[in-house]
Amino acid sequence: MPLEHDVLIVGAGLAGMRAAIAVPTHLNVGVISKVHPVRSHSVAAEGGINAAIRPEDSWESHMYDTVKGSDWLGDQDAIEILCREAPGDIMELERMGALFSRDPQGRIDQRNFGGLGFPRTCYVADRTGHALVHLLYEQLVKRAAHVYEEWYVTSLIVEEGVCRGVVALNIFNGELTEIRAKAVVLATGGYGRVYLISTNGLINTGDGMALAYRAGVPLQDMEFVQFHPTTLKETGILITEGARGEGGYLFNARGERFMEKYAPKMMELASRDVVSRAEYQEILEGRGVDGCVMLDLRHLGKAKIMEKLPQIWELSITYVGVDPVEAPIPVTPGVHYSMGGILTDIHGATPIRGLFAAGECASVSVHGANRLGGNALMETIVYGRRAGTRAAEYAEQTQPAPSSGRVLQQERERIGAILSRKEGERAGLLREEIGKVMADHFGILRTRERMEEGKRKLAEIRPRLEKIALHDRGKTFNLELIDALQIFSIMDLAECIAEGAAVREESRGAHSRPDFPKRDDVNWLKHTLAYRSEAGPRLDYRPVTITRVPLGERKY
Ligand code: FUM
Repeated sequence: MPLEHDVLIVGAGLAGMRAAIAVPTHLNVGVISKVHPVRSHSVAAEGGINAAIRPEDSWESHMYDTVKGSDWLGDQDAIEILCREAPGDIMELERMGALFSRDPQGRIDQRNFGGLGFPRTCYVADRTGHALVHLLYEQLVKRAAHVYEEWYVTSLIVEEGVCRGVVALNIFNGELTEIRAKAVVLATGGYGRVYLISTNGLINTGDGMALAYRAGVPLQDMEFVQFHPTTLKETGILITEGARGEGGYLFNARGERFMEKYAPKMMELASRDVVSRAEYQEILEGRGVDGCVMLDLRHLGKAKIMEKLPQIWELSITYVGVDPVEAPIPVTPGVHYSMGGILTDIHGATPIRGLFAAGECASVSVHGANRLGGNALMETIVYGRRAGTRAAEYAEQTQPAPSSGRVLQQERERIGAILSRKEGERAGLLREEIGKVMADHFGILRTRERMEEGKRKLAEIRPRLEKIALHDRGKTFNLELIDALQIFSIMDLAECIAEGAAVREESRGAHSRPDFPKRDDVNWLKHTLAYRSEAGPRLDYRPVTITRVPLGERKY
């Protein structure tokens, strides 16, 4: 007997849990996740969540900053919703019990973040994601959602153009099962681990994006990959933008605050793409310190560091042996966030009926070519809620359909073939190879030659995926099998990033080409759509929605 729900949410980070909580209690909601909900990657978010909650701030100003941050590629109808609804959602989180840090008057405190014209990032020290994930998990338990923890979704079930559920592997016992649902919401997070080193957890392999892509949904703007300016030397560990928001400086080997040259007004608090490129340039031109630049917090003093940035203090001591109270922290730009993702409308609906998406796996698109720090958490809450609400409305009007069992059978055969192969390629090594190609060829600065070579390397790796063999062919907690399945997601997404990037002949936001150094609104003010085809991603384009903020020059 297949398992059944009115609404099934895939992914239990902030977007997934917020979507589940939005489903009215008379409906039967299921949440499925390859890890326990509180181990979802949202837990690693550090610096904060943006909302214009002060009378002297406004959603219009938040919207302007976001559009400018997106290098005018964000859809302004979606951005308006994000910025208008954010304050209400912050108040709701507060009512649920979120322990936001306070200012001396006892109000929710707000810190400065990159690209903001007003300090509007609400925060919980430098553990904002941790606090919110635990808060929403309490709500999920209260909501009595059925949680399938440590289950891996291998395929969507799409019958006659309508999504009817998923096929999933129970990691604990290796059983493959159909879980039927009237509506499915994908909230599986980002794909940071398509790259070798990333701030993302090892679980961030972009599976939800790949599931949608294989089912025929286009992935939008995949070439826009965010590099966070401050990741800890050689580890990829995030050192929050909050460190600069609280007053931290960046300097190079000569002791120069080099951001003066690149963003004289906003300095270290320019948008992430600008700061990351500046650091990269400094390192490239020989002004780095062992491949890094230095983040100096010493002038903030121990009390402030311990109150506002306790986690990065600890991380820095633990992983590079540097006490930020005493010495600057060595940092480099690192892969952090996927601006692109599953194409959705402003209610989280994808082009497939019954299939919705929210959070980092989706592209609604509020981030365009570059996301502002603090807007990702807000997107998970605003658009998680909206997608959950719309999925529930859809489920109420939908009848369940009998199962043909076709997708389950197909998945049994596919996974059976991997499990029965005795000799072949190792998933872990392929993962490393793909990650290295992406890091070397689709990084911060992208030239035609490097990208074409990268595409050739990916094309050489692709057929090897069909030869993966496992050491562990058991059923109980076979993580090598999960690794093998994830590689197919990683490869699909790597190809979409590569194809979109190689074709876009301009520099916009995080996509930076020395051979096309300027933004080109005449030819490239459009979203890339990548559709799956047998020959690899097929690209198409759609216009950007511009409502209130006319095109402008982007200077910080
Ligand atoms: O720097 C940070 O704390 C990251 C925040 C974000 O990506 O929004």
